[in-house]
Amino acid sequence: MADATLLFKQRLDGIASETEALLGRVLAAEVLPGELARPARLIDVMRYSALGGGKRFRPYLVVEAAALFKVPQSQALMVGAALECIHCYSLVHDDLPAMDNDDLRRGRPTAHKAFDEATAILAGDGLLTIAFDILSRAEVHPKPQVRIDLVSALARAAGVGGMVGGQILDLGAEGRFGDGKPQRLDRQGVEILQGMKTGALLRFACLSGAILGEADAERRNALDRYGSAIGKAFQIADDLLDLEGDPATVGKATGKDAAAHKATLVSVLGVDEARRKLAEFVAEAEAALAPFGADAAVLKAAAHFVAERTS
Ligand code: IPE
Ligand code: IPE
Ligand code: MG
Ligand code: MG
Ligand code: MG
Repeated sequence: MADATLLFKQRLDGIASETEALLGRVLAAEVLPGELARPARLIDVMRYSALGGGKRFRPYLVVEAAALFKVPQSQALMVGAALECIHCYSLVHDDLPAMDNDDLRRGRPTAHKAFDEATAILAGDGLLTIAFDILSRAEVHPKPQVRIDLVSALARAAGVGGMVGGQILDLGAEGRFGDGKPQRLDRQGVEILQGMKTGALLRFACLSGAILGEADAERRNALDRYGSAIGKAFQIADDLLDLEGDPATVGKATGKDAAAHKATLVSVLGVDEARRKLAEFVAEAEAALAPFGADAAVLKAAAHFVAERTS
C-alpha cells in the first residue's frame, strides 16, 4: 500500500475513535447549565444514533483540512463532532418511514426500529440542536468571530439551501409531491440535488478547516473546490454501492434506489458513465489541492478512498 494510503487509513481510524469519545462526552447524561433535565430516553436514542458506527469521514476531513493550517486538533475535533451530529440526525430522519423507509443503518436497526418513530424524530431534533451548542463553545476557537463564521457556514450547509433542501428535491424527484410520477431530472438537475443533499455537509467539512485556520482567499477557495468535488464523488459512490454493494458490508439495505425511482447519476448516465464521472470528480478534488503541495498527500488519498470504499 502506498505510504499516503496507509497514513490515511491510520489517521482515519485515530480520528474516528477520538470523535467517538468526544461525542460520548457531549451526549452524556449530565445536565449542562441552562438545561432543565436530560430525559433518559432522548439521551439513549441520541447516543444510539450517533455512537458505535459510521466511518466518521466528515470529522476526518475537518481535522485534516484544519491541520493544513496547524490548527490544534482538539479544536477541529469539536467542529467534526458538531458536523457528525448533523450528519447522524440527517440519517435518522432519512431512514424514517415517511422518507426512505429503511430498517438497517450501520449494520443495526434504524433508530425508529430500535425505539419508535416519535422518539427517532426527536433524536434528530436533539442532534441538530446540539451541533450548534457545540460550535458555540470556547473550545472550538478562542475568537468569537471564527465561531460565528462556523455557525453560519454550518447552518447554510445543513439547512434549506443545503442538505435539507437537497432532501426535499430528492423526494420530489421520486414523484412524492405531484401526480406521483417520478421527475426526469437531467444530469445537471441531479448534480444540484446531490450537491445539496450530500455535497453541502462534506464541503462544509473541508471549508471549516480553512475557517478555523483563518486561511487566505486562495487556500480557502482551494478547500472549497476540493470539498465540492469530494461531495459529488461521495454520492455517486453511495449510489453505486446501492446498485452493486453487499448489504452485509455496506451496513444498509441495497437495491432500493432504482425501485424508488431515485434521481441519481447512475440512473441518468448508466453505470459506466457514472464511474467515469466519479473518477473525474476524484481528479478534480486532487487538482484543487495544488496550493498545499506535499502537505495535502493524505487529503489526496482521502479522495481515492471516497471512490474505492465498499461501505
Ligand atoms: C451515508 O453517509 C449517507 C450519504 C450522505 C450518502 P456515510 O456513508 O458517510 O455514512 P456513515 O456515517 O459512514 O454511516
Ligand atoms: C442520504 O442519501 C443523504 C442524506 C442527507 C442523509 P441516501 O438516502 O442515498 O443515503 P443512504 O443510502 O440512505 O445512506
Ligand atoms: Mg435519502
Ligand atoms: Mg436513504
Ligand atoms: Mg443511498
